[in-house]
Amino acid sequence: MNSKEALIRIVDLHKSYYDGEAELPVLQGLDLKVNTSEILGIIGASGVGKSTLLHIIGTLDRPTTGHILYEDQDIFALPDTELARFRNQEIGFVFQFHHLLPEFTALENVAMGALIAAANNKAVYEDAEALLNYVGLSERVSHYPSQLSGGERQRVAIARALINKPKVVLADEPTGNLDRRSSDAILELLWDLNAKSGQTFVIVTHNRELARQVDRVVELVDGKVVL
Ligand SMILES: Nc1ncnc2c1ncn2[C@@H]1O[C@H](COP(=O)(O)OP(=O)(O)OP(=O)(O)O)[C@@H](O)[C@H]1O
Ligand SMILES: [Mg+2]
Repeated sequence: MNSKEALIRIVDLHKSYYDGEAELPVLQGLDLKVNTSEILGIIGASGVGKSTLLHIIGTLDRPTTGHILYEDQDIFALPDTELARFRNQEIGFVFQFHHLLPEFTALENVAMGALIAAANNKAVYEDAEALLNYVGLSERVSHYPSQLSGGERQRVAIARALINKPKVVLADEPTGNLDRRSSDAILELLWDLNAKSGQTFVIVTHNRELARQVDRVVELVDGKVVL
């Protein structure tokens, strides 16, 4: 799916990390549009700043300078509480390392992001169970992360990212460390979701197979996007 309206516009983005006085410039005047309902792939060498960029698009971190517009709204101009609400409602994350909470079951991990705002916990758990079912884990709802395989954990992480029906799903190496079969299963899931829901996906990957299948690929080089 790919309609040509820009959902996200990233304008002259700079991000440096600081170690005392020493500046490490990572993103250096990066411009990028993400269109509504597209699957955008981001590739680039290790350490070039892909995760940094994804975290900033997801508002988990702030740019040093520059802007991110979601449907013309400058999100970093929002007060912190509104920014947190925006993040929780509109953005789903699949992290580079799945970040599941070890002391909670698969079901609880998926449900958690919706329980905070929910009037009805039972409905949230039903949604979480339906999502686990969708990702093929109906037999694993009560398992803890340590009792799941790597591919299963990643599927739980995808279900978790979807619980609030976000407009945008940001995925950092969703198939990293998985064998070919698990990785293909994850990719099929992402394409299916995109086709059914029209959700927009931004996917960071080293996986050539994945990069070949997305709607559009951009490469990060020297802190900027090259096509
Ligand atoms: N919190 C931080 N503090 C200081 N430096 C950081 C921090 N996070 C990342 N960096 C540095 O910024 C650069 C970009 O890191 P980033 O994690 O964005 O790279 P990446 O492209 O995602 O790499 P990979 O493909 O290995 O995941 C790296 O040189 C890294 O060492
Ligand atoms: Mg990374």
